Amino acid sequence: MKFFLDTANVREIAQAQELGVLDGVTTNPTLLAKEGRDPVQVIREICKIVDGPVNAEVISTDCDGMIAEARRWAELDEKIVVKIPMTREGMKAVSRLADEDIPTNVTLIFSPSQALIAAKAGASYVSPFVGRLDDRSENGMDLVSKIIQIFDNYGFETEVIVASIRHPMHVVEAALLGADIATMPYSVFEKLFEHPLTDVGLAQFLKDWEKLQR
Ligand code: E4P
Repeated sequence: MKFFLDTANVREIAQAQELGVLDGVTTNPTLLAKEGRDPVQVIREICKIVDGPVNAEVISTDCDGMIAEARRWAELDEKIVVKIPMTREGMKAVSRLADEDIPTNVTLIFSPSQALIAAKAGASYVSPFVGRLDDRSENGMDLVSKIIQIFDNYGFETEVIVASIRHPMHVVEAALLGADIATMPYSVFEKLFEHPLTDVGLAQFLKDWEKLQR
């Protein structure tokens, strides 16, 4: 499973990169707005830090506008994947961008039929938002499971990015289902490393070793 960081904060991305298990980054307009800096400059900086795909989203809502924005993002760096919203205009854009070999990630996926349409349009990735579904008492992981089954049934190469992750169990459940990628906030990424028994065990090992030195 690939780990993406779901942030536009370059400090967090650099820290995660140092840990050696980071495979890519997803951003969205909200995350970029949080940084309060020129979004193009931020994406450029992220591309310098990360080895894998860096997702940048369009804000146009019409097909031509999305394509123009996607081309501008793609010119910035070869790592760029363009996030396109799951709309009719978006799917027209995805299909044309696929012809231009510009990779796309169809975002705001909330149903299996939307994921199927996106894959048929030629999306490189789809992003089901599990947390936002769970927030409404719907089952986000159930959606991921159905998308994986549909893609397997027909041999779609579109990769599944489990997005809108809220806690480490979302990552574990996504991995158990065989999702290609989990994209998560830095706070969740950090928690993946931790267990109190690891800390207690290490403290004991070091204390016992110290006794030997006396
Ligand atoms: C990533 O591609 C999505 O934009 C992101 O995971 C959405 O997360 P949220 O539901 O926490 O805003």
